[in-house]
Amino acid sequence: AIRLVTTAASLRAQSRLLLTQKEGSSQGLVPTMGALHEGHARLARTAVEQNDVVVASIFVNPLQFGDAADLDRYPRTLQDDMALLEAQGVDLVFAPSLEEMYPDGQPTVRITSGRLGEKWEGASRPGHFDGALTVVAKLLHLGIPATGLPGANAFVTGSGGGLPAYRAYFGQKDAQQLALVRQMVADLNFPVEIVGVPTLRSADGLALSSRNRFLSAEEREAALVLSRALRLLEERANARKPLEVESALALIESQPLVELDYLEVVDPRTLEPLAENCRETPFRGEALAIVAAKVGPVRLIDNLPLSS
Ligand code: PAJ
Repeated sequence: AIRLVTTAASLRAQSRLLLTQKEGSSQGLVPTMGALHEGHARLARTAVEQNDVVVASIFVNPLQFGDAADLDRYPRTLQDDMALLEAQGVDLVFAPSLEEMYPDGQPTVRITSGRLGEKWEGASRPGHFDGALTVVAKLLHLGIPATGLPGANAFVTGSGGGLPAYRAYFGQKDAQQLALVRQMVADLNFPVEIVGVPTLRSADGLALSSRNRFLSAEEREAALVLSRALRLLEERANARKPLEVESALALIESQPLVELDYLEVVDPRTLEPLAENCRETPFRGEALAIVAAKVGPVRLIDNLPLSS
């Protein structure tokens, strides 16, 4: 059965116990804020397939919310979340209190996300990615597999030292967050492998999101132009044709209930827009098509990797 832990010390003790019991050689971490849906379940399932021990964390991180009301409104559904995670085969849920994570109320030292954190989603949510990366940094450290003697060097993991491999799972749905986590792990030598998990969609193409529940039936139907516009670009890329971003834009603009923020084709690592001429010349290489729009009461984001 799945176990719930709420402190760093008990997480470490349970990780050590499970790795020993299972003679495990790998541990996976799935960071979440709870209110879980099938998209989160896919992350957990992928982690369970790839690791002997899997920890999911549930923590609604105040540092990444701009608005206190938004934070208060965030759904807390721990019992349902535990059931969903258990069904995927997750071993441990780490659900720390605010005091456990931020004993001084706020951390004094934080991660800054730089230019990569200021564009796209960062432009409409100032400070969001600094707050998200700061908690991800903490969670990545807390989730390091605990083996051997207490105090064994946690910063040497992977096959080399005979210590467990350590992987953490993030959705491609939040492409900018994933790019930033990869950048942080590379820049600051975190001892973890970051795994990006493809976006889970409804049959009609809409990317699963906890915000979809705030859409009326009419708005939900209108929101489908976002994934359709991305598919259009994907088809052009697959056919190695010019991307014709204008026709994807026109599709979105034809839908009056959708207020477009951005639709762009960007470098998948830096999220800088690709040279304008990829719109006219046949597409080759790797890119990411990203979109954000307001539909009724909610802001929706989506993206698709392009590859040819
Ligand atoms: P949260 O919004 O709870 O999302 C947890 C993880 O689920 C993220 O990595 C997100 O990209 C992934 N996810 C969401 N919808 C998905 C979908 N339709 N398909 C696949 N994966 C999906 O993202 C956060 O929490 C926080 O910022 C966090 C990283 C936990 C830091 O607080």
